[in-house]
Amino acid sequence: NWTMSSFIDKELERIRALVGPEGSVIGAVSGGVDSTVAAVLMKRAIGDRFHAVLVDNGVMRLDECAQVKKTLADNLGINLTVADASELFLGRLKGVTDPERKRKIIGNTFVEVFEAEAHKIDAVSQQSGLGPIEWLLQGTLYPDVIESISFKGPSATIKSHHNVGGLLEDMRLKLIEPLRELFKDEVRALGELLDIPEDLVWRHPFPGPGIAIRVLGEVTPSQVEIARRADHIYIDEIKKAGLYRQISQAYAALLPVRSVGVMGDQRTYEQVIALRAVETKDFMTADWFPMPIDVLKRISNRIINEVKGVNRVLYDVSSKPPSTIEFE
Ligand code: XMP
Repeated sequence: NWTMSSFIDKELERIRALVGPEGSVIGAVSGGVDSTVAAVLMKRAIGDRFHAVLVDNGVMRLDECAQVKKTLADNLGINLTVADASELFLGRLKGVTDPERKRKIIGNTFVEVFEAEAHKIDAVSQQSGLGPIEWLLQGTLYPDVIESISFKGPSATIKSHHNVGGLLEDMRLKLIEPLRELFKDEVRALGELLDIPEDLVWRHPFPGPGIAIRVLGEVTPSQVEIARRADHIYIDEIKKAGLYRQISQAYAALLPVRSVGVMGDQRTYEQVIALRAVETKDFMTADWFPMPIDVLKRISNRIINEVKGVNRVLYDVSSKPPSTIEFE
């Protein structure tokens, strides 16, 4: 891929010129393809003067925080700090059921935790004789740039958790956005050239508020655990069936209802999992994915047998619009 490899060389030069021989950069990473590609570019350009921060918000997927840490720090050699704030997030989500309030709480708490981490890293950097942190990395893509200029619809709130404007002012940080001229497929091509593991390069998008908007109703640690386990089985079976790349986004949602079931000669009264899978080009409209029946059978059997507290599995056959991709 000639265009992309010349892009890498030019971009590394541009970053080095911008940041200078002593400047430091900070940026949040999530384990998604955009923030990872941006982080690897920074690492290649300026090494450990790029500081990545992963905030564990308590609503990431099963083992996700540990996996991301392993890939980014151990395999890709990125200078990474993990801020485990799961108790703070889950504490603030207690009793909250309104989807937009969940988003606000998670967005605000994210900014707060990230800011505190940035100040700590800045202090350490200055003590060790390196300069203050001067730059903030964002993995903004070209469609995000266009959208923030031209579109003031519901998605203005979608990216609201990325709002780190306060930090820019407080610490007088300048923005650095190496992906702002690229589309998603170009970022993926770049990711492959940068030797980022394939399953990360092709990962489905995952919303900032994570499993909190996939546990309908109150988000408690035990509900998050059920949703996590069901989702893990679902994605595992989709991958085994070779369907993961055909699907644009898939996840399991935990519904806020109970239904009657039977186990042995006992009646049960347990929770319901809904499976969502969509195909889409731009995430503005989407079709539900025609999941093969045998795959659905395996998924449903496994979830009901392996996830305690669930006795019913449903498949979502709604398109967007009028439905949305997420349940909340
Ligand atoms: P909807 O549900 O609006 O989702 O059809 C469209 C795409 O946006 C993602 N999404 C979010 N991403 N924060 C995010 O970072 C959010 O609050 C949020 N809500 C939805 C969703 O996963 C899908 O890819």
